[in-house]
Amino acid sequence: MNQTISLRVNGLPETHEVPANQTLLQFLRETLDLTGAKEGCNEGECGACLVLLDGRAVNACLTLAVEADGREVTTIEGLGHAGDLHPLQAAFLKHAAVQCGFCTPGMIIAALGLLRDNPDPSEEDVRWAMSGNLCRCTGYRQIIDAVQEAAAAMRGDPAPEAAP
Ligand code: FES
Ligand code: FES
Repeated sequence: MNQTISLRVNGLPETHEVPANQTLLQFLRETLDLTGAKEGCNEGECGACLVLLDGRAVNACLTLAVEADGREVTTIEGLGHAGDLHPLQAAFLKHAAVQCGFCTPGMIIAALGLLRDNPDPSEEDVRWAMSGNLCRCTGYRQIIDAVQEAAAAMRGDPAPEAAP
């Protein structure tokens, strides 16, 4: 059975007929061709599929598309672009917090959800907020450093002085 949904995705209005059992992840990737959110475990364990739903990070693999009806979805494609990166994207690059990149969209969305609620998180806050995101490559240290640097940039704190 299909249902018509109307929502905003990365600021743009979208109206589509979707199967009642289609996940938000399938809708984003297959209908809208927004492939930034990744299908990893497909069971809520890895965080690769995270998107913001009305500003809160959710696992798109566990959310039905019909649940997004009337709401605002933000995916990694809705952040910065080449030449105009979001502070989180810039900090992930600077700290080499990206290797294969599979986990990165979910990591950045998790961090964005955290920073909207808590602009000045402690390392423990960051670790807790990112605890549902798995990375097989980086070892996490660079990711935590990147989130804390991006948080400072988003607060408008002066950049730390470079070591002599
Ligand atoms: S694909 Fe959704 S949590 Fe892993
Ligand atoms: S950078 Fe490869 S899984 Fe995180």
